Amino acid sequence: MGIDNSQSRERAEEPKIYLVGGAVRDRLLGLPVVDRDWVVVGATPAELLKRGFRQLPGDFPVFAHPHTGEEYALARRERKTGSGYHGFSVETGPDVTLEEDLARRDLTINAMAEDDQGRIIDPFNGQEDLDKGLLRHVTPAWVEDPVRMLRIARFAARFDPWGFRVAHGTHGLMKKMVASGELAHLQGQRVRQEMEKALMTDRPWRFFQVLHACGGLKQLLPALAAQLPEGGHGQDAEARPWQLLRRAVAADAPLRLRLAGLLQFAVDEEHDAGKLVEWLGLDRGTAALLREWLRLRAMLETFVPADPDIWLNILNGFTHRREELEQLFSLSMPETAAELLPRMAQIREVVEQIRGDELRCQGWEGRSLGDELRRRRKEAITAVLEDAS
Ligand code: CTP
Repeated sequence: MGIDNSQSRERAEEPKIYLVGGAVRDRLLGLPVVDRDWVVVGATPAELLKRGFRQLPGDFPVFAHPHTGEEYALARRERKTGSGYHGFSVETGPDVTLEEDLARRDLTINAMAEDDQGRIIDPFNGQEDLDKGLLRHVTPAWVEDPVRMLRIARFAARFDPWGFRVAHGTHGLMKKMVASGELAHLQGQRVRQEMEKALMTDRPWRFFQVLHACGGLKQLLPALAAQLPEGGHGQDAEARPWQLLRRAVAADAPLRLRLAGLLQFAVDEEHDAGKLVEWLGLDRGTAALLREWLRLRAMLETFVPADPDIWLNILNGFTHRREELEQLFSLSMPETAAELLPRMAQIREVVEQIRGDELRCQGWEGRSLGDELRRRRKEAITAVLEDAS
């Protein structure tokens, strides 16, 4: 249904308020609505301030409702003026129509509004796409904002249980955006934020698959993309990173484990963990978990179960963040972990009984104390291993 001019003129006299975006979409899907965003058509900032709204800091005229605190944005149209997602000029004013405001939105399912009578205003057939399960761009201007690449991948993950997929034409635009180099304007922190939301859905691998299918993953996380077959039209279903994510979902693993678990596949000799951590702006805990796990993984991959020296190094590696590291081990290498974790617990118990303070009482000190501690512990490990075999 379009918006005719007479309606728009009427709005210029009496401001009209519409519920828009994700709240309309989620309600139509029968999902709980968490955030409600509103658009005000036919008003000026002064009018809203007079009605008790409080202007929020930011680039656009957005106001907080005096009682509910919900966000009310003045209708706006956007025009591209340069490259990247800061290269926009924004126009607001009482003459901007609801349809113009909806036209600047990313996907048809996000470009619907609801008026105060509960009527849906849907100029881009978002309801039809909701029924068909299609993620479709609103206008070709979609390519102007690279954040939309991340958003569409996130919606593909979130709505995968409903069978949603990217519309053919939109997939074409995604490839165009990749080819234009626009993804280089994405900030790592923004990539991380969208990735984190996707990781907490029940089908997180869809986020990465959608980005891979258009060639975007190769630009954002090249080492991860390099482990997947080209194209990503289902041939990668059994890829190791997706297997890990499936296990993480099944175990209801928290975000930090999902993030570190996935990112271990985004690091190789060429793309080191330090650069990735910095680009994504990872918090210290996740960064440390990732680093410690990468060190342990290298040891566990070349693990010789009969070597007490390696056992000692592994026990040391699992000292801090033991619980998280053990979970990450199980998520990443389930068979090896099932075999080694019980043995590790047994060895730890024996090793912990050989204590430095007791050796000190027996007269050992300094470097020779350290050497003796290691020698006795290795001896104890060898005894456990011999018993077990
Ligand atoms: N939007 C957009 N392009 C963006 C960001 C937002 O077009 N890069 C529009 C969409 O219409 C979206 C609305 O702004 O529906 C509100 O954005 P936001 O609250 O970030 O997302 P939601 O769609 O509400 O999704 P979520 O459920 O994740 O909050």
